[in-house]
Amino acid sequence: MFPDDGVNSWNTVMLLYESAIKKFRTKVEILNDEFQQVHQYNPIEYIKTRVKTPESIVKKLKKHGYDISIPNMIEYCNDIAGVRIVCSFTSDIYQIAEMIGRQADVTVISIKDYIKNPKASGYKSYHMLVTIPIYLSDKTVDTKVEIQIRTIGMDFWASLEHKIYYKFEGNAPDYISRDLRECSEIVSMMDTKMLQLNDAIMQTKHQEEEKLKAQRRHKNNWKENI
Ligand code: GTP
Ligand code: MG
Repeated sequence: MFPDDGVNSWNTVMLLYESAIKKFRTKVEILNDEFQQVHQYNPIEYIKTRVKTPESIVKKLKKHGYDISIPNMIEYCNDIAGVRIVCSFTSDIYQIAEMIGRQADVTVISIKDYIKNPKASGYKSYHMLVTIPIYLSDKTVDTKVEIQIRTIGMDFWASLEHKIYYKFEGNAPDYISRDLRECSEIVSMMDTKMLQLNDAIMQTKHQEEEKLKAQRRHKNNWKENI
């Protein structure tokens, strides 16, 4: 499939992408655990990872008019290692993205905010292209990872839209595209409502805790004064 480069270099390259995914997944899990400890909730619902299949890599290179070679695939195919982080709330997305960007060994190459600027299809997600160093026995290789961060609602929408897109090979009837855009709006409305609801719950919880603390202080003062 990659005539010029041989099986060995193919295997080494794929090992790099698989390692990058492993390393990145662990990073994100640690951030989630720390967040749980500090804020008493998990911003991440689930993480999905995948390495692009050779067929998809070839298809993408061909689509963009590049020769099929390992150097071209490394240079031009940014999503060979893919990590999808699915959060409960839109605000979690930006917190996670910031935490990832602050990691000393992560270099952010580019960001596409399809939440602030949704695609014409209605697609929403926050994309980051990063590199992380992979330490092999004789060299260190900065390896690209494409990260997609989205809410459960956005993920549901994107999976369904993807299925429909493939079914119609990109030429869905107008009414389906329109309905999908409408669904995307509904998802955004739900995300906003759920966030408001969560904020209200957290505020009530906080107020109750403060009230309990005040009652305890009052009781202790009273004990000290008798
Ligand atoms: P690709 O060649 O598709 O990788 O696109 P790109 O290199 O121009 O990057 P872009 O940020 O537009 O898309 C990267 C990835 O986001 C895609 O591979 C999909 O997984 C996802 N994506 C982008 N647009 C859509 C969309 O309209 N619908 C769905 N379901 N997913 C999308
Ligand atoms: Mg892609």
